[in-house]
Amino acid sequence: MTSYYNGFPQSDRDEAIDMINLDELEERAKEVMPEGAYYYIASGSENEWTWRNNIAAFNHFQIVPRALTNMDNPQLDTEFMGMKLKTPVMISPIACHGISHKDAEVATQKGAAAAGALFSSSTYANKSVEDIAAAAPDAPRFFQLYLSKDWDFNEMVFEAIKKAGYKGIFLTVDALVSGYREANLRT
Ligand SMILES: Cc1cc2nc3c(=O)[nH]c(=O)nc-3n(C[C@H](O)[C@H](O)[C@H](O)COP(=O)(O)O)c2cc1C
Repeated sequence: MTSYYNGFPQSDRDEAIDMINLDELEERAKEVMPEGAYYYIASGSENEWTWRNNIAAFNHFQIVPRALTNMDNPQLDTEFMGMKLKTPVMISPIACHGISHKDAEVATQKGAAAAGALFSSSTYANKSVEDIAAAAPDAPRFFQLYLSKDWDFNEMVFEAIKKAGYKGIFLTVDALVSGYREANLRT
């Protein structure tokens, strides 16, 4: 039976994705996802100016190739705030993974753990901190928090994430108003 999140049918497919690169994955996601759900993820606000500039800025980073060295067994391991990670790539906080798949953040956490990547779950995650932690108990994870004016609420969150073994918090400080997301106005 199809499950729904916010009116969007959720995928329950569970299979390895055969893909060449991330652009291709994005195209294929567009074919199978409901339009509104797709554009919640794959669009920006205000004429998408910042989004375009973020991509351009990221593409300025260069990876310096090392030639003529012993590269039989290259390691991508790194350390972040005392945590040993197998890759410098991390999953940044993204709200509502349930918009894409019924297993939501539980599935993303499992994937991140398999890749040795740091996972961070959003305040607006669709799965509880306990369920996400249980998906990969030994994997390093952070929690993203929109600090509340209600300090009792903040303390309740701190206690829950500490108990669930989260290693730290990403504090979001730039979300005073919601983005003017033009693609979502259309859909
Ligand atoms: C669909 C979507 C949902 C997001 N949800 C959150 C969120 O819940 N909390 C948060 O702090 N940041 C959220 N972000 C911001 C991302 O964590 C990240 O900071 C931002 O996308 C910039 O990184 P990028 O250039 O790699 O996309 C979201 C971004 C996207 C695209």
